[in-house]
Amino acid sequence: MIITVINQKGGVGKTTTSVNLAYVVSKTKNVGLLDIDPEGGTTTSFGMKRERKELPLGSKSVNIFNVEVFPAHLGLLKLELNGDINEIVNIIKEISKNFDILVIDTPPNLGTLAVSSMLAADKIISPVAPQPLALEAIKNLDSRLQSIGKIAIAYTNFSKKATNLDLKNVKFVNIAVPQSRLFIDASRLGVPASRYEEIRTKRLKISKYFEELAKVTLE
Ligand SMILES: Nc1ncnc2c1ncn2[C@@H]1O[C@H](COP(=O)(O)OP(=O)(O)OP(=O)(O)O)[C@@H](O)[C@H]1O
Ligand SMILES: [Mg+2]
Repeated sequence: MIITVINQKGGVGKTTTSVNLAYVVSKTKNVGLLDIDPEGGTTTSFGMKRERKELPLGSKSVNIFNVEVFPAHLGLLKLELNGDINEIVNIIKEISKNFDILVIDTPPNLGTLAVSSMLAADKIISPVAPQPLALEAIKNLDSRLQSIGKIAIAYTNFSKKATNLDLKNVKFVNIAVPQSRLFIDASRLGVPASRYEEIRTKRLKISKYFEELAKVTLE
């Protein structure tokens, strides 16, 4: 199953969602995590460096904390500019055959890489920050989803209260991830927050949200 995390708005929590979802799901399933964002947020969140080489998509992966991470590399920039959407969709589907779940972290736009990841997806998750501009972005995403006939599951990030907009192809679930320092501390160390809190604290605050998100996504 391919789970694509998407939202063309920057900084809403796509990378955070991808890494923590992959980490919690990897406890019970064989999980791959494809960083298709040339910026490489997922790559650094798992303590790796972006590859300075141009690599074929999906040709390199490293197992970290039981998640098979495909790091970002220079070739992604070329694909973003000149890549063929159908070809990229086919490669993503090939990669996913090696896993129960392949999670994909996408860049903050609706360009070639994000659209290909969306088309390849069995499930789409959109983190939404409850601010006016971010809500505008999710309405645009809804139109785009309608045009390709796909549904996204949206949850609220940076808030104690879940947002609920009445959209056609974006379905809001009752999950709200509050602001937490854990995310910042963890990203500084290059580990997923759900991993970090397992080691640092015995009371888990963050992981439960991503377990819940995994549950509603996989059901
Ligand atoms: N609930 C939260 N509480 C506090 N900080 C958070 C939370 N969620 C995400 N962050 C932090 O906010 C920043 C942006 O999050 P993230 O990188 O996941 O967003 P993004 O959508 O992937 O951004 P981009 O569009 O640039 O790829 C990061 O520094 C992350 O650690
Ligand atoms: Mg990101």
